[in-house]
Amino acid sequence: MIEIAIMGHGVVGSGVAEIITSHKQKLYSAIGEEIHIKKILDLREFPDSPLADRFTKNFDEILNDVEIRVVAEVMGGIHPAFEYVSKLLAAGKSVATSNKELVAAKGAELLRIAKENNVNFLFEASVGGGIPIIRPLNQCLVANNVKEIAGILNGTTNFILTKMIKDGMGFDEALKLAQKLGFAERNPAADIEGHDAVRKICILASLAYGKHIYPDNIHTEGITNITLEDVKFAKKFDCVIKLIGDVKVLDDDRMDIFVAPMLISKNSQLANIDNEFNGIMVRGDCTDDVVFYGKGAGSMPTASAVVADIVDCGKHLKRRKFLFWVDSDNENILPYNESRTAMFLRLKSGDKAVAIERFGDIQVIAEGDECALITPVLTIGEIEQNLEGIDVLSKIRIGDL
Ligand code: HSE
Repeated sequence: MIEIAIMGHGVVGSGVAEIITSHKQKLYSAIGEEIHIKKILDLREFPDSPLADRFTKNFDEILNDVEIRVVAEVMGGIHPAFEYVSKLLAAGKSVATSNKELVAAKGAELLRIAKENNVNFLFEASVGGGIPIIRPLNQCLVANNVKEIAGILNGTTNFILTKMIKDGMGFDEALKLAQKLGFAERNPAADIEGHDAVRKICILASLAYGKHIYPDNIHTEGITNITLEDVKFAKKFDCVIKLIGDVKVLDDDRMDIFVAPMLISKNSQLANIDNEFNGIMVRGDCTDDVVFYGKGAGSMPTASAVVADIVDCGKHLKRRKFLFWVDSDNENILPYNESRTAMFLRLKSGDKAVAIERFGDIQVIAEGDECALITPVLTIGEIEQNLEGIDVLSKIRIGDL
């Protein structure tokens, strides 16, 4: 029997407890031993839970219990999750987490502590919810030089954009619906301003390139400025608007990494990833494009990935799986104004002539007193320079995805 503890009994934590209880036999066959939940840490009371006798409010009961070998951290946030996870790893317990904020901020440090103590720190659920992406990137695609990773990494914003594109729904109404359906973070700013997505692309970049990429250093735009007018003009260019986390390594070894809304062609493999679904495209030099698709949020999909990590930890007690990256000062990150892209611009019709003069012979679609165009590929700095004195209504990157 493998004794485990679960820290947090919220959306994901309750899903983890449910899967372990309802899939007992399935998990037994996967690992050859029963996984038994010995403790659940939560400050709230759950008197009606069938596991009511396992709840504790005292972290030390988990830390000091030598029978508990694997712990799921599904509390969210950095503190006290970081302190708890550090102590658990140092005490020789493996940890599986869904906490992208924790991994993005402290991954290098926690991986080092895990290595020093010959235990595992796994985080499949931190990116893409139920979609396998950490393990495929770390194992199945390991023979590739990863040229680029581009993903729809946030279910809430994808749901909102889908409602705007397909149903003509306004931003606020779509956000309320996403919150009602339980996709959104408690604080929706993390979703709609791109912070959730940037944590996830940083985790993928750290894994793919072996050095910790800190979200604070990365250009992050959300979808709060996207309007139904942008959506309408995008359609005229045969594109849809998606919030994309993107990373690629340039020939000079600098990393071009950002989160921003993008116009992508309706023919892109990411264009039809709708609603709360996530899609992640990995461009390998051997495989070419590989796309991972599925539910990136929600209790059971995310819990499914946490339980898979618990099983993996259970199968590798006293043995380390190779999942590692080193700390880094991020000095190889390309300044955003040097990032190269074509840009969708929505302008007042009166600025059409000056835009053509500055950007060259480009297609301009005019409607009423507004017009939209797509610039040639330039650096962000060059585009900004060309836009001096022009009243820009919208500016959205074009994705070659
Ligand atoms: N709020 C997140 C999302 C949850 O919408 O994708 C999963 O990380």
